[in-house]
Amino acid sequence: MTAVTTLGLLEMKARGEKITMVTAYDWATAKLLDESGIDILLVGDSLGMVMLGLDNTLAVTMADMLHHCRAVSRGAKRAFLVGDMPFMSYQVSVEQALANAGRFLQESGMHAVKVEGGREILPAVEKMTANGIPVMGHLGLTPQHMHQLGGFKVQGRTQDAAQNIRESALALQDNGAFALVLECVPQTLAESISRELTIPTIGIGAGPGCNGQVLVFHDLVGLYDRFTPKFVKQYAQIGTVMRDAVQNYVRDVKDGSFPGPEHVFK
Ligand code: KIV
Repeated sequence: MTAVTTLGLLEMKARGEKITMVTAYDWATAKLLDESGIDILLVGDSLGMVMLGLDNTLAVTMADMLHHCRAVSRGAKRAFLVGDMPFMSYQVSVEQALANAGRFLQESGMHAVKVEGGREILPAVEKMTANGIPVMGHLGLTPQHMHQLGGFKVQGRTQDAAQNIRESALALQDNGAFALVLECVPQTLAESISRELTIPTIGIGAGPGCNGQVLVFHDLVGLYDRFTPKFVKQYAQIGTVMRDAVQNYVRDVKDGSFPGPEHVFK
C-alpha cells in the first residue's frame, strides 16, 4: 500500500488516471473510505450541514474542524488528507491564515488545507505554501460566499465570469496550490481549465473533464435528505437502510423478541 502524496496526485494527472475524493468527518467512515481505495479524504466544512444540522457552512469553527480532522486522521492510512479551512479562519490576515493552516497539520494529522476563493486569498496561499503547507484551491460555487452569490448557483456562465474563474485558477497554481476544486461550473469551462493547468482539478458539478471527482459522503450514500443537488449520483440509500434497522429494533424491543436466548449470558 503506497500512501497518496501531492506528487502522486500530479503523476495521476500526467498519466490520465482519475483522482477520487470524498468527504469524511469521523473515524469509522474514514477507515471504510480509505479501505475502499479513495485517494483523497476531505474533511469538508460541509460537516456543518451534514453532521451538525446547520443551514450552511458559515458558522463552522476551527474547533469543529480540528475535532473532526483528528478523528479522520486516525482512520486513514493510505488516503491524502485535506482539512477545509472554515469561514474567517484565513481571510483576516496572512499571519492568521498561516497560523490556522499550521494547526491542521500540527494538531489534527491533515496533510493539506483547502481554501475557497481567488485573487483575494493569493497572499495567504503563497505564505502557506512557502512554509510547507500544501494548499488546495476551490473556485466556482464557493459555499462560504453563498450570501454574496445569492445562494447555491452555477457559476461562470457569462464570458466575464468564466474568464475570472480561469484567471483565478492560473493564479492559484502560480501561487503554489497543488490542486483545485471546481464546483458547479459549466463542463466546457472546467474541461478547458483542467487542460490549461498542470495541477489536478477535482470537479463537483463540473463534468467529466476534470482530473478527479469529489462528492459529499452523505450525498453519495443517500444519508442527507434536506437537498440533493443535480450533480449528485446516489450509490445507495443508506438512510432508508438505517431507518428500517432502527424501526425493526424498536419493534423487537417493544414486543419482547429482543434480546433473544442467543443474546443472554447463562
Ligand atoms: O465542504 C465540502 O464538503 C467541500 C466539497 C463539496 C468540495 O468543499
